[in-house]
Amino acid sequence: MTRLVHLSDLHFGYERETLIYPLLDRVNQAKADLVVVTGDLTHRGRSAQFAQAAAFLRQIEAPMIAVPGNHDIPLYKLADRMTKPYKRYRRAIAQNMEPVGHVGNLRVQGVNSVDPMAWQRGVLTAAQMRRVVQGIDPDCINIAALHHPMQQRPEVDKALMRGAPEALALFELQGIQVVLTGHLHIWSVGAFQGPEGRGILQVQGGTALCARESDLQNEFAVLDFDGPELIIQRHIAPMDERGFRDPQIIRFARIDRRWRKLG
Ligand SMILES: [Fe+2]
Ligand SMILES: [Fe+2]
Repeated sequence: MTRLVHLSDLHFGYERETLIYPLLDRVNQAKADLVVVTGDLTHRGRSAQFAQAAAFLRQIEAPMIAVPGNHDIPLYKLADRMTKPYKRYRRAIAQNMEPVGHVGNLRVQGVNSVDPMAWQRGVLTAAQMRRVVQGIDPDCINIAALHHPMQQRPEVDKALMRGAPEALALFELQGIQVVLTGHLHIWSVGAFQGPEGRGILQVQGGTALCARESDLQNEFAVLDFDGPELIIQRHIAPMDERGFRDPQIIRFARIDRRWRKLG
């Protein structure tokens, strides 16, 4: 079995302060093989916020990879956003914004979906799609991790990332099995599998730590890849409660190259 922890949308600078240590405790208790952070580490991309985010990440005991989110580049300072959008991210978090995590039988490819020209929407370019496909390891379960969702439910009012439909079709065709995303602060897993299942499964995380009250809850997920099964623990901390509840369990099985929800 190989275990991932998926965190997204920490939003340091606008974080739920009282949840920082409960979150760290849960993450470290999981003893994951790899922790994957899919962007919006900070709320406004400020140096002090990156320092907070970096201090948090340093306390994670498992190996960790991260990709940036749109909140990790300047929003209001347009000149900075265009000329040096990742200066602070690189200094505080990592030089490499498309890291690879290779643990057990999993290969996790980080992808930077942030677009300084379209702050909210994001983009996957043709070159990025090619790199992801070229990196696929046929001996592994291949996973892509990026900030922006590749598919959204119809009720979502934010524009879908540019390039998302093409990238999703290509990734599915080439054998990417799981996509980890965030950005919307809304959990969604299995919404696009259909009754027959589907080759690619999007795990869209909620926000792990943002204090925005309309998000209603913070949450993160533990993903256990165990033979043909994927067992997901969804850890939720409602805003009006002190910490995390016992996790919900969601199970998928890979049958005939398709993920199907169990139970
Ligand atoms: Fe966010
Ligand atoms: Fe975002």
